[in-house]
Amino acid sequence: MDPVFKFKFPFDNDLLFKEFESVRHTLTEYADPRNLMPSSNWLVSRELEKENVPYVNNITKALVIKYGITGYVSPRFYMLTKNTILRDHIDLNTKCSINHVILGEESPVTYTGYGAFFYETALLDTTLTHGVMNKGDDRILFKLSIFDETFDQVKSKLL
Ligand SMILES: [Fe+2]
Repeated sequence: MDPVFKFKFPFDNDLLFKEFESVRHTLTEYADPRNLMPSSNWLVSRELEKENVPYVNNITKALVIKYGITGYVSPRFYMLTKNTILRDHIDLNTKCSINHVILGEESPVTYTGYGAFFYETALLDTTLTHGVMNKGDDRILFKLSIFDETFDQVKSKLL
């Protein structure tokens, strides 16, 4: 079974980009206690609950309610800078995530053993090895990290 499940959700890209710009100053290098990914090119703004980003917070609630996602979820912005590689990894603690590419759809996520997947909005299995080779401009993602439900569990709710 593919580790990426594409679906449609009516994200407002202009609003997402506007809110991304408003918290751009909070981007920090992704820090991983496993030290697998020292990464000046992979930046995250992960405490969006504390920021003035009403659209992000509304869309998070809307996704949770529409699909009945349970447990802890956390909205984040990520940026992979232009022409850089996010090395193969599995995500820390996250079971799966809903990713929406705000900018940079031209670069796929590549899963070891499964191949490359281009997507705009998708559920991703973050427990399997994956990476991104960004061959374009800065790649900006809205990501809803899901900690308590598996890819299969959430996928069954998206169908
Ligand atoms: Fe990842």
